[in-house]
Amino acid sequence: MDARSVATQILTQVIWHKHSLSDCLDTYLPDLNDARERALAQNLCYGVLRWLRRLQALLQCLLKQPLKDKDSDIQALLLIGLYQLIYLRIPPYATAATVNVTRTLKKTWATGLVNGVLRNFQRKSDILLAKVDTDISVKLAHPIWLLKRLKKDWPTQWEAVAQANNSHPPLTLRVNNRCLSRDAYLEHLREVGIAATPTPYVDSGITLDVPMDVQNLPGFTPVKSAEVSDLKINQASQGGWVSVQDGSAQLAAQLLDVQAGTRVLDACAAPGGKTAHLLEHYEIDTLLALDNKSDRIPLLENTLSRLHLKAQVHCADASQPDTWWDGQLFDRILLDVPCSGSGIIRRHPDIKYLRKPKDIVALTIQQARLIEKVWPLLKPGGKLLYVTCSVFAEENYLQIQKFLSQVTDALETVLLADWGHALPIGRQILPGENNLDGFYYACLSKTN
Ligand SMILES: C[S@@+](CC[C@H](N)C(=O)[O-])C[C@H]1O[C@@H](n2cnc3c(N)ncnc32)[C@H](O)[C@@H]1O
Repeated sequence: MDARSVATQILTQVIWHKHSLSDCLDTYLPDLNDARERALAQNLCYGVLRWLRRLQALLQCLLKQPLKDKDSDIQALLLIGLYQLIYLRIPPYATAATVNVTRTLKKTWATGLVNGVLRNFQRKSDILLAKVDTDISVKLAHPIWLLKRLKKDWPTQWEAVAQANNSHPPLTLRVNNRCLSRDAYLEHLREVGIAATPTPYVDSGITLDVPMDVQNLPGFTPVKSAEVSDLKINQASQGGWVSVQDGSAQLAAQLLDVQAGTRVLDACAAPGGKTAHLLEHYEIDTLLALDNKSDRIPLLENTLSRLHLKAQVHCADASQPDTWWDGQLFDRILLDVPCSGSGIIRRHPDIKYLRKPKDIVALTIQQARLIEKVWPLLKPGGKLLYVTCSVFAEENYLQIQKFLSQVTDALETVLLADWGHALPIGRQILPGENNLDGFYYACLSKTN
């Protein structure tokens, strides 16, 4: 197997069978033994999905007649070929390697077709690109409904948001302050020649200049005892010095403002990024971490065990407290609800095509139910932090505004900050601003 054949398989699954990109990467990438081939396959999948609408518009101009459904793999291969020609400075033999995939797919009848389409594009690329780009949804490679919604909620920023959605996200780390300080970790990175800078607005974030395999970061994974030869490696031997987490997501722990010795509920916790940050950042007496998807509980447990942290972990539906709650109120609740993910499209470009408007309606109903059901579990004087990685008003301030209109014991604690945009309720960071993911935060306090 080679990178282009594997990318063809993955893209066929995502585009035509609606599977998620991250699931398909986990399934198919291990078929490639060589790390560079894996990196190329991943790069091709992300790139094609970022620019899918534009690539499909070009392909439509280039094919004399549409391909049959059973040949969606050939279509995926053509999209890869076009992506390479437009967006990657890959030498001409890459086209030959692309054409050769028709043999791996056992569809040699398509060899001439793939070759012809790609050569034809090379001859007419300027004319074809100018033609398809007259449609703004093609030029920005976003579905029309998504652009319309961005325009409605962000009338002056929508185009910048769409452009940020097509950009490459940085690799941002969160330093485990129980092990070492951000400055100390920056020094370790400098010593091994990894260029990085502090992430703005958060006290434990570090953004790498160039993304890399996290397994090769100092102190990420435990060092085998045979390799422990000097003091510095010895300190790192347990691993767990850093985790991958965008700067926007790192704001949650800071904003929750937990006092020592208190009880905290993390109602939607898996895979545990924010749970772990809370435990690294505060001396919490009891942290109950819930998630209702049983297959995500091991992810949460692995996050905690890699970082040597402890929480009470339960698989339960947070919106049905009678099935799991012991009757003791919480001082703080983190409600990081399931959402459209419209703020993290640059990390998950398949969201553009897999999400549909009806999904957003279903998500807003789930979100409303979650906040309504966990609110009674908060102590008077306690705080609830509502979080989404969405940029849509319906999932964000409109959702919280509606909740506030229905209860008498909730007040907004206004988040005064120098990041993001103040909304009628809460604050929003738009994707790409200060190189951060798009996140929404609202903090509510319970009156006595
Ligand atoms: C945005 S993710 C949480 C990310 C997590 N807080 C982190 O920082 O790693 C939302 C999570 O909520 C979970 N979820 C959805 N509905 C839920 C419910 N009714 N009760 C508990 N968890 C739920 C999903 O399984 C998903 O893992």
